[in-house]
Amino acid sequence: MTRRIAELLRAGQPDETVTIQGWVRTKREQKGFSFIEVNDGSSMAGLQVVINQDVPDYEASLKRISTGASVEVSGVLVPSPGKGQRIELKASTLTVYGEADPETYPLQKKRHSFEFLREIGHLRSRTNTLGAVFRVRNACAAAIHQFFQERGFLWVHTPIITASDCEGAGEMFAVTSFNLKQPPLNDQKDIDYTQDFFGKPAYLTVSGQLEAEIMAMAYSNVYTFGPTFRAENSNTSRHLAEFWMVEPEIAFCDLDGDMDLAEAFLKYIFSYVLEHCPEDMEFFNQRIDDSVLATAENIINNQFERITYTTAIELLEKADRKFEYPVEWGLDLQSEHERYLAEELFKKPTIVTDYPTQIKAFYMRLSDDEKTVRAMDILAPKIGEIIGGSQREERLDVLERRIVQQGLDPATYWWYLDLRRYGTVPHAGFGLGFERLVQFMTGMANIRDVIPFPRTPQNVEF
Ligand code: 4AD
Ligand code: MG
Repeated sequence: MTRRIAELLRAGQPDETVTIQGWVRTKREQKGFSFIEVNDGSSMAGLQVVINQDVPDYEASLKRISTGASVEVSGVLVPSPGKGQRIELKASTLTVYGEADPETYPLQKKRHSFEFLREIGHLRSRTNTLGAVFRVRNACAAAIHQFFQERGFLWVHTPIITASDCEGAGEMFAVTSFNLKQPPLNDQKDIDYTQDFFGKPAYLTVSGQLEAEIMAMAYSNVYTFGPTFRAENSNTSRHLAEFWMVEPEIAFCDLDGDMDLAEAFLKYIFSYVLEHCPEDMEFFNQRIDDSVLATAENIINNQFERITYTTAIELLEKADRKFEYPVEWGLDLQSEHERYLAEELFKKPTIVTDYPTQIKAFYMRLSDDEKTVRAMDILAPKIGEIIGGSQREERLDVLERRIVQQGLDPATYWWYLDLRRYGTVPHAGFGLGFERLVQFMTGMANIRDVIPFPRTPQNVEF
């Protein structure tokens, strides 16, 4: 049976006979023997393989091997006399599956820029940094499921195609089966959606929250974890058109409970990743951002700061520096404001609550003075907003009023309103941007480098 290299590096014993499969990172030919380093993606480090010239087809096989070639090696583990590894593999047989022509193979031993690597998105996964990113990303996902499963949350699968705009921001991609050159028109010469696939306009979801609320009103505590889509034309290092979101929804819960859960949640994920990916996290700390490990410890060991939006505005007004965007009660916080609070002032994640009603979504619970809603955003150093959440409006009359005020059509939200008609309860939830979490965890500067195949304006390759 083929063994994974991570497991061999950790626990492989001298004299064990093993077979490995993977891709060659380096080859060094000496007189009478050669070294190759083989990586199978299970860990940052590869396994050093020694191939003596008495291995069958030595000359011919070696000629076909260069960086990027795929191989299978069987042999026996021996203690390594070289520096940097405990064991190495002494080959007895070697199979080359596929060559990688060194004249054209774009990945060389030197460091490549992340911009260049994005152009070869089908090969960049074979680099050290992207490998570390995707192992940490996997660990984050595993931690998320474990956290909620331990607490009795049901993982519910909310739809990707929807007819309602959860965030009310109109940043939706349309889903249609019409031939866009010739869509059917009605008497008013408008597009006749009754003839479209779903019989009315449909979109890719911006959030699974509204459907998660339906499920929470039956199973109390649920979460969704899936792709979401936003057609916002933001070409920044923190925006994707397709990103993954984790959205828990908790019945019988207010905003304080919501914040407590979100804080415990982030602490849990950071602890999990430090425990399961120490080598990759060490790599990020050394090569990407030397505050990665300190940040992780800071998250785990310190209470997050909690302030109201009104206090945040006061603090920003007092700041001894000029911001590009205006600071004024009623205006949304910009990323520079968020980063000032979390990165410079408090130096830790900062939860801002009770935002002005008019800048937040219709479903957030209205405060008694009606000026603010029970919203909370968690701002992370370097990233800005990483989580957005709220206590939901559970009162039918208030919710109806808010939908109308925001220019939305209550008829399309009939089922959402029904949840307030039948057995309504106070409830709350939040959405964690999964890629922003991975960025925060790894220190990676650009969100395009923490998702395998980024979708951004003008870019849908691979
Ligand atoms: O703050 P948002 O818009 O909240 C919601 O969608 C709510 N329905 C969540 C809920 O209460 N269930 O988005 C949540 C998070 C943001 O804090 C951010 O981390 C991330 O999603 N996010 C993005 N990540 C990458 N690219 C984008 N374009 C993003 N837009 C939001
Ligand atoms: Mg938000």
